[in-house]
Amino acid sequence: MIKDELRTPGAVRDAQRWTAHNYHPLPVVIASAEGAWLTDVDGRRYLDCLAGYSALNFGHRHPKLVEAAHAQLDRLTLTSRAFIHDQFADFCRELAQLCGKDLVLPMNTGAEAVETGIKVARKWGYQVKGVTAGQANIVVAEGNFHGRTTTIVSFSTDEEARADYGPYTPGFRIVPYGDLEALTAAIDGDTVAVLLEPIQGEQGVIVPPAGYLPGVRHVCTTRNVLLLADEIQSGLGRTGTTFACEHEDVVPDMYLLGKALGGGIVPVSAVAADAEVLGVLKPGEHGSTFGGNPLACAVGTEVVRLLATGEFQRRSAELGARLHGGLQALVGKGLLAVRGRGLWAGLDIDPALMTGREASERLMTRGVLAKDTHGSTIRLAPPLVITEEEIDYALAQLAAVLTE
Ligand SMILES: Cc1ncc(COP(=O)(O)O)c(C=O)c1O
Repeated sequence: MIKDELRTPGAVRDAQRWTAHNYHPLPVVIASAEGAWLTDVDGRRYLDCLAGYSALNFGHRHPKLVEAAHAQLDRLTLTSRAFIHDQFADFCRELAQLCGKDLVLPMNTGAEAVETGIKVARKWGYQVKGVTAGQANIVVAEGNFHGRTTTIVSFSTDEEARADYGPYTPGFRIVPYGDLEALTAAIDGDTVAVLLEPIQGEQGVIVPPAGYLPGVRHVCTTRNVLLLADEIQSGLGRTGTTFACEHEDVVPDMYLLGKALGGGIVPVSAVAADAEVLGVLKPGEHGSTFGGNPLACAVGTEVVRLLATGEFQRRSAELGARLHGGLQALVGKGLLAVRGRGLWAGLDIDPALMTGREASERLMTRGVLAKDTHGSTIRLAPPLVITEEEIDYALAQLAAVLTE
């Protein structure tokens, strides 16, 4: 096939012409996918090493998830929460049980789950803890990524995400990630919550020092502050356990979930907490037209059942060891550092060699799709259905990119 016949260049041009440029995608146009593999409009195949930023933990079009979606599409897709539908209770019960919590509040996107968590924490603060009206504060970490709403970007430390979106929502205190002393010092009588990612994904898969999360848990308990764990990217099998908090035996007061909860098919997010926390919400005080819709619940229930088998967590732990072993071998050979847990890795490429963007482009030409985060850091987060051979393939392509 000669180059002019390729469909990719025209499709890239069209996509750029008709959309706001709030993303800078790799110049690849995907037409279909299965498991860990993507095929573009020109029939080229790529190993997916991003998995929709962990929204595709179960791979593309997992048969059980597609089956659940098809069956639900043929019966009922939307009711709004004005009525109860027959998929709702199962989803909420099974997810609550997976989380070990009393209640679940379903939403759609990750940012909505975070917003819900913030609202619930503030209401809990005023109604249960007795915080002075209008004075609630929430402690968050530098380098956080919790979504894109105006309130959430108000406490981002990434100027790209935050600049020119003010005026900003007050009520957040930003402390260095991993610094327990600073976090403890930021808490006062009006603090209602600490909101953290147990591993900071967008920041480059930053794992906090051992003992940090248990320390935060202890401070929150002793100071009567809610611990909100944003497990939207780190949770649901990604790190080798159901939740990343489990690696240090930490149980937060609230799980914020999203991404993989929708099985890569529909946007599904949720907040899970006990009744004394989520019970502060009364009818009319919060909601979403699409949150907890029948299609979302049908797929979400199947996601929870896949996780309940433990298979994906086990795969992530075992295959993650292989991935990290291979990556460690490249440290000093083009990589400066590697971080992460399970099938999740942040790689710092020697900036003297190339940027993360250049590395991602070169990997693309070698049939591996990954994405840079900041500077020369790229993140690998393949679907948890990836095989040993496929991991070895990705590692070989990365090694080649670093030495070519
Ligand atoms: C930790 C974390 N929280 C929240 C979000 C926001 O999720 P969404 O893009 O679905 O709003 C993301 C997205 O990358 C995330 O990684």
